[in-house]
This record gives sequence, structure tokens and C-alpha cells, in this order.
Amino acid sequence: MASSQMSRDEALECTCCRHACHVLLYSETASQLFGRIPIRYIVLMQMRFDGLLGFPGGFVNPLEETLEEGLTRELLEELGVAVPVSKEDHVESCFSPPRSGTYSSSSRLILHFYVKKMEEEQIREIEKAAASTAADHGLEVLGMVRVPLYTTKSGGGLSCFLSHSFIGVARSQLMNSLLRLHLVSPGDLQEALRGSQRTHA
Ligand code: GTP
Ligand code: MN
Ligand code: MN
Ligand code: MN
Ligand code: MN
Ligand code: MN
Repeated sequence: MASSQMSRDEALECTCCRHACHVLLYSETASQLFGRIPIRYIVLMQMRFDGLLGFPGGFVNPLEETLEEGLTRELLEELGVAVPVSKEDHVESCFSPPRSGTYSSSSRLILHFYVKKMEEEQIREIEKAAASTAADHGLEVLGMVRVPLYTTKSGGGLSCFLSHSFIGVARSQLMNSLLRLHLVSPGDLQEALRGSQRTHA
């Protein structure tokens, strides 16, 4: 990953930095697309208010809450379910890459990323709540989306999904997680990436 990595504790030593936490929630599933293509896993992302894809979560204030409490608060706002997230679910922390074209004197932003495996039933409950009772539904969050992990013969699926626009480092957080959690093989991800470059060109 291009942006500099640090441990959770190192990150918290920066008292003048802003902090944001996001999480990849996923489950196994036996569902089959068209009754024949195994979905294998449900991986949740969201369409944000700005039209970019990202993970649920948001800004956390370490003076008022732990990173994980803040993340759970954001999940209640954005998903309508206070999904508990713990320190053990932490994967990586890094500085947010500076946004091109913006000259900001504001303090640096540290991004914390978490992964949590759930039961399929819990993921389905989250999808229901996110589309109905969540305070941010239709506002900060336009909808939850599932990540297609397969690539179709015509280049659809993961390939096409990766060609969309993502917030911050969400696209690499997604790809790194798919590999680390063995949700997609390195070869299949390479094939999807080649396809997504074709789609883009
Ligand atoms: P407000 O309540 O409106 O402040 O939004 P929020 O607290 O939900 O914050 P948001 O989710 O927008 O995240 C804060 C910042 O983190 C964003 O401005 C992005 O720069 C960054 N960000 C948002 N989503 C992701 C993501 O999925 N991955 C990464 N790495 N960064 C993200
Ligand atoms: Mn958010
Ligand atoms: Mn939010
Ligand atoms: Mn925001
Ligand atoms: Mn917020
Ligand atoms: Mn908000």
C-alpha cells in the first residue's frame, strides 16, 4: 500500500491528528446467482452521499470514545445496527493520502481499518435496517451494496465493480482484504484487475 502504515497505538499517539474508522463486514453464504454461480461470501460496502463507494464507519473522537466505540456509534448511524467491533478486529492504520487539488492546513487524518466476520443472518438484518431504520439512510448513505467476487465471461462482476470510484484508500482496503481473508484467489483478482483496466480504457 502506498500510504504509510502504523500500529493502532502509534496512531493514537498523534493527539492532533483526526481519526476515522471503517469496517469490512462479511459472512459466508450458500446462495447462488441464477441458481448456479456460488456467491460464496457476502461482503458489504456502501454507496456514499458523494457517489463514491466506501466502507461503513466515520470520524471518531479519541478524547471522547475509544476507536472501536466510535466505530460502533457510526455503524448505528449508518446501518441502524450497533455492530460491536473490538480491538481484535483491527487490521491496519495509515495516514489518509492527501486529496489532490486541495490545499488544506487542517490536521492530518489517520484511517483505521477493521474486518469483522458475521453470520449470514446478521448481515441480512443489517441490510434490512440500513434500508429502513438507519438515521443516515438516504442521507450520508445512499445504500448498502454487496461486492461481486466472481468475474463473468463478459468481464462483469468483480472486474466491473473495481472500475467504479472509491473514497480514500477503500479500493486497496477491499483488494487487500479479499486476498488476506482468502475470499478471492490472487490469480482471480489479477484477472479481475486486468478486466477492470479494459473496462476503464
Ligand atoms: P460525517 O458524519 O458527515 O462527518 O461523516 P462520517 O463521520 O461518516 O465520515 P466518513 O465516513 O465520510 O469518513 C471520514 C473520512 O474518512 C472521509 O472524508 C474519507 O476521507 C475517509 N473515508 C471514508 N470512507 C472510507 C473508507 O471506506 N476507507 C477509507 N480508507 N477512508 C474512508
Ligand atoms: Mn461514514
Ligand atoms: Mn457517518
Ligand atoms: Mn463525512
Ligand atoms: Mn460522523
Ligand atoms: Mn454524520
